[in-house]
Amino acid sequence: PSLAPLPRPFTVPLPVPAPARPVGPGRYEVTQRAAEAEILPGLRTPIWGYAGTFPGPTFELRRGRPVTVAVRNELPVPTSTHLHGGVNPPDADGYPTDLVVPAGYSAHHHGHPETHHQGVKEYRYPVDQPAATLWYHDHRMDHTAPQVWRGLAGLALVRDDEEDALPLPRGERELPLLICDRSFAADGSFRYPDHAAGGHFGGDHMEGVEGDVVLVNGAPWPVAEVTATRHRLRLVNASNARRYLLRLAPGGTPFVQIGSDAGLLAAPVAHAEIPLAPGERQDVLVDFSAYRVGTAVTLVNALGEGSAGNVMRFVVARRAADDSAVPKALSRRAMRPADVGPAVATRRFDFRRGETAWTINGEPYRPGVPLARPRLGTAEVWRFTSDFHHPVHLHLAHFLVLARNGRPPAATDGGWKDTVDVRPYEVVDVLARFAGHRGRYMLHCHNLEHEDMAMMADFDVV
Ligand code: C2O
Ligand code: CU
Repeated sequence: PSLAPLPRPFTVPLPVPAPARPVGPGRYEVTQRAAEAEILPGLRTPIWGYAGTFPGPTFELRRGRPVTVAVRNELPVPTSTHLHGGVNPPDADGYPTDLVVPAGYSAHHHGHPETHHQGVKEYRYPVDQPAATLWYHDHRMDHTAPQVWRGLAGLALVRDDEEDALPLPRGERELPLLICDRSFAADGSFRYPDHAAGGHFGGDHMEGVEGDVVLVNGAPWPVAEVTATRHRLRLVNASNARRYLLRLAPGGTPFVQIGSDAGLLAAPVAHAEIPLAPGERQDVLVDFSAYRVGTAVTLVNALGEGSAGNVMRFVVARRAADDSAVPKALSRRAMRPADVGPAVATRRFDFRRGETAWTINGEPYRPGVPLARPRLGTAEVWRFTSDFHHPVHLHLAHFLVLARNGRPPAATDGGWKDTVDVRPYEVVDVLARFAGHRGRYMLHCHNLEHEDMAMMADFDVV
């Protein structure tokens, strides 16, 4: 738990991360560096951030407009940047050993014989994918969890014409909410267990590291004033290991889900509560006109104990005109398994605790040894089984959840996803499409401590 004095919940205003500014057409330059942030009022927290901020800047991307992001590493450690949910070529995908090594860092000395990039790497993103809430984060082999904990994560929003044509809330009524938990030392620095760093297997962090402070966009249990109108909330679980079950208190209006990890749904679906495992996103509309002006509406986490039971608060400040609507239909992309075409193969991936590592099909991660070779342009059924909660994430390939334990998936499993929470002893079938690029990608548990403890595998799209 935290040793620092913590603010009363719902006293710190909700920040919105600054947009990334292109330095030229389609070109961004971002420096990863150490900085300080005032996260707890009156204290300075040393962070590692993209552009020196936590979260990093938000990339506003447009379908059909490729971008290049030059990531310069001025941190004392190597990094690799993964755009989570992105359909990108393998050399831009943030493979865990495709490192950007800071100037002066002896990669050989530190056991990285393959130094790929000295100081800076240019990531080229085609942005040839539908509107979606993506996020980016560090993916360094064995060190993803502690490096993301220190702040290396941010948002990337893809927009397109199909979404623009919908009457969704915009501007200040569209709030990206990057949710993660942290603990703080007495001096305000992030508190992460030493023995959990570096992929060390065993000990009290086997279930992953959780903090007792819930941050939204980097602020502890923030508060936002809203008009009594519809708002679009892009919920992103950027936590290392914490799972959420989000509810509004008082209730009285549902979350109307319009999108999942990889883009818009075919049609909206109302939910009273939203489960969100690490890596998952939900794009929802909340109509605050259901509340009287002056009402404090708290976003709570029904899975959180004590301080982790609160996420943030909305205060309904005043009435206002609302020209938004809940569209009857959202996206015309193929949404039913039947539209994807027949699965050409079925494969099984078992996520389980091993003797010396968290394993997939009994093996700890072996870079360069693919567990599957799906063909470009085909779809396959992938069956995930597990001994514990493992949020399973595929790079490149988006998928539809077909079944949980042979039964229809949950209402909140709908739409194209890239991460699915596989619960203890569950059997989850997904239909994955391998489209866009050939080459080496990976699947892994998005509990970041599990990922660092080798719960990853390569697959090659051929
Ligand atoms: Cu968000 Cu391979 O991860
Ligand atoms: Cu796991």
